[in-house]
Amino acid sequence: MSNWVLETKALTRKYKEQTAVDAINIHVSKGQIYGLLGRNGAGKTTTLRMIMGLVKPTTGEIEIFGQNIQENAKQIYPRVGSIIEIPGFYENLTANENLEILARLRGIHRRDAVPYALSRVGLDDEPGKLVAQYSLGMKQRLGIAAAIMHEPELLILDEPTNGLDPIGIQEMRNFLLDLCEEKQVTIIISSHILSEIEQLADIIGVIHEGKLLEEITIGELRKRNRRYLEFQVSNQNKAVLLLEEYFNIIDYEVHEKGNIRIYSHLGEEGQLNKVFVENDIEVSKIMMSEDRLEDYFVKLIGGRVSD
Ligand SMILES: Nc1ncnc2c1ncn2[C@@H]1O[C@H](COP(=O)(O)OP(=O)(O)O)[C@@H](O)[C@H]1O
Ligand SMILES: [Mg+2]
Repeated sequence: MSNWVLETKALTRKYKEQTAVDAINIHVSKGQIYGLLGRNGAGKTTTLRMIMGLVKPTTGEIEIFGQNIQENAKQIYPRVGSIIEIPGFYENLTANENLEILARLRGIHRRDAVPYALSRVGLDDEPGKLVAQYSLGMKQRLGIAAAIMHEPELLILDEPTNGLDPIGIQEMRNFLLDLCEEKQVTIIISSHILSEIEQLADIIGVIHEGKLLEEITIGELRKRNRRYLEFQVSNQNKAVLLLEEYFNIIDYEVHEKGNIRIYSHLGEEGQLNKVFVENDIEVSKIMMSEDRLEDYFVKLIGGRVSD
């Protein structure tokens, strides 16, 4: 049995000639927030709908909690919560009344299910307020409350930050992180905006034209996109020795063709160069990286993500 909370194996969905999701292998481990990032039309919703059993894969497999979803749906789905489409709420009722109705429909009998869910998303201090008076951010939170009433171990959210302002996103980030930390909930969240998903996720799967281009941790992503000074030198060993002994630089990487990337001392290329040259090291290139996070995606998929 695998260790993944969720794993897809060559998961594929075709619509006539079009391949909406193309042989993707997703790996989500316990307690993680997994961000599925891709432009509009990339295949995010189709993927999440297949995971929830709402759309049948053309080929490929999905395992949740180590079990195949087709054979074990009855055991699996009570342990999963989701919002794939924005749920319809009765505008002329309160949040509490809406959730009570949903809980009854879904056969959730625990007395504290509704207050638990409302307090989790921070809507417990709005007792008399009708949903009609809710902001978009509050409605999104109510949607999440509806998805967590039964205390799922896996939560699947399709673009929950759509239309939220930065404060709304920050609030969502906080309560999703709390859910992860306190309840060990695993969360899969999709988005078409890198800067948003970067604030929320631990690991990102980049999907483009139905293909999963890569799975990358936020740490790796940031590291890969940190700014650096790059020198191309004739004698790497000697240059490295100078960096360490003369400048006390430890944050550097040695690359091919005599290149050295230095992640500190940005803007001090003049001094570094002088010392290299004084020590008979030829410097054939000095470059400042321009890489930024959004550029990384432009490189990866050849265009803007957040269009
Ligand atoms: N029911 C459907 N019938 C035909 N094509 C579909 C259907 N659902 C999605 N698609 C197509 O599959 C592709 C991926 O769509 P979708 O999964 O909704 O992308 P995303 O959620 O990333 O915006 C799109 O080109 C879309 O037009
Ligand atoms: Mg979508």
